[in-house]
Amino acid sequence: MISLKDVNPNLLTAEYAVRGPIVIRAQELEKQGKKIIYCNIGNPQALKQKPLSYIRQVLSLLEYPELLKNDEQLKNYPCDIAEKAKKIYHQLPHGTGAYTQSAGIPFIRQAVAEFITKRDGIPADENHIILTDGASKGVQAAITTLLKNKKDGFMIPIPQYPLYSATIDLYGASKIGYYLDENNSWQLNEQILTESIEKAISAGINPVAICVINPGNPTGAVLSFENIVMIINFAKKYNLSIFADEVYQENVYVTNAAFHSFAKVMNKIGEKDITLFSFHSVSKGFTGECGHRGGYLEIRNIPNEVLAQFIKLQSISLCANVDGQLVTYLMVTPPKKGDESYDTYIKERDGILNDLKTKAQILGEGLNKISGMKSDMPQGAMYAFVKFELPHTADITSMTPEEQLAYETQRDCDYCLAMLEETGICVVPGSGFGQKPGTLHFRTTFLPPKDEIEELVVKLKKFHEGYVEKLKV
Ligand SMILES: Cc1ncc(COP(=O)(O)O)c(C=O)c1O
Repeated sequence: MISLKDVNPNLLTAEYAVRGPIVIRAQELEKQGKKIIYCNIGNPQALKQKPLSYIRQVLSLLEYPELLKNDEQLKNYPCDIAEKAKKIYHQLPHGTGAYTQSAGIPFIRQAVAEFITKRDGIPADENHIILTDGASKGVQAAITTLLKNKKDGFMIPIPQYPLYSATIDLYGASKIGYYLDENNSWQLNEQILTESIEKAISAGINPVAICVINPGNPTGAVLSFENIVMIINFAKKYNLSIFADEVYQENVYVTNAAFHSFAKVMNKIGEKDITLFSFHSVSKGFTGECGHRGGYLEIRNIPNEVLAQFIKLQSISLCANVDGQLVTYLMVTPPKKGDESYDTYIKERDGILNDLKTKAQILGEGLNKISGMKSDMPQGAMYAFVKFELPHTADITSMTPEEQLAYETQRDCDYCLAMLEETGICVVPGSGFGQKPGTLHFRTTFLPPKDEIEELVVKLKKFHEGYVEKLKV
């Protein structure tokens, strides 16, 4: 029988905090009958968000096309839904159970290109769109493509969504962390970027790409147009490709910020040399279809022979799952005004987005009233990255940086575990995403129902005050 010593050491090193030990403990407590408020993961439908009727109605017809031949059955569907399903069915003669082209079903790639053109007012080439099993697989494919040896470095934000750190560890590449500027609403900072990359270069690392998450996970921040221009210029200066993770593009809740895609900003400033990989997903926004594993990747400024290699890579795992590709199609071609399903679609879409906005406000305002806790009002995405202070239990001035990191990791893990045990609230320690030395955070989603978010704020205040008092003794 194999043992841990037979396991790929890169796998042993890789960590994925959002599904770590605290979640495992939460599941145990739940089995014992404790009420758990799961705020650890951006999985909307697991937290009672209803799927959009439109998506499920079309899928149901395509999964069992016999229904399409039965006029009586079709009366149960809005007529535009039945028409759309029939149209898709005719363009997909082998149905949902057959492999597709490796880059994805052609009419869906074309629809994605049209969606980008409509969103950004710029041309988009369907041949540069690749359909993926969620954004995660797109990111992993792009890393695989650019990774030549372990000294190749990928710049990733701190804090970051651990897909990036885990994949880079797993594939044996180098991470170049750059801190996001918490004092400037978690935007990127040119000086910090420069210091990080120069330090890596001096250590013999060869930087190949910069990963940017906008709107941010775990920060909930939305990057300004100017910030994106700065990032593009920085990438150009250091000859980096850009990975733009834009899975939260529909999740912006404030009027003083707007989502700008990297593709649009690059087009606006006339940048044509930097290779851009941008990622989108059906998992987030108001679609929330995480389980369907759909998404796409658009590549700009890539020579055809490199694109061919990328598509070869996709062909090694045959193709993305077909339902995920279909949900991606439905995401980018919503019902139109005048369609029978339009009003329901708009009502459901706005209901989800308004609900998220209300919950972001309740959470942001509530947390900021707790003494010793601070969080930017989440502008977008589905998270708040909450800073908290605890009295010290050891003298950090005598610690090495590694000892301080271990001490702080232990402190935020202990804190989150105690929070779970006492209140049933399941959040993720800040150390799982990375944080500046000397600071402590946790990440919470605002996905649970509104009454649970209100309950969370009350319970958190009581817990935090009690925890601080205990540490003082
Ligand atoms: C920033 C970011 N990128 C990518 C993903 C992965 O999304 P998908 O479900 O499309 O793989 C997530 C999931 O939470 C995310 O937060």
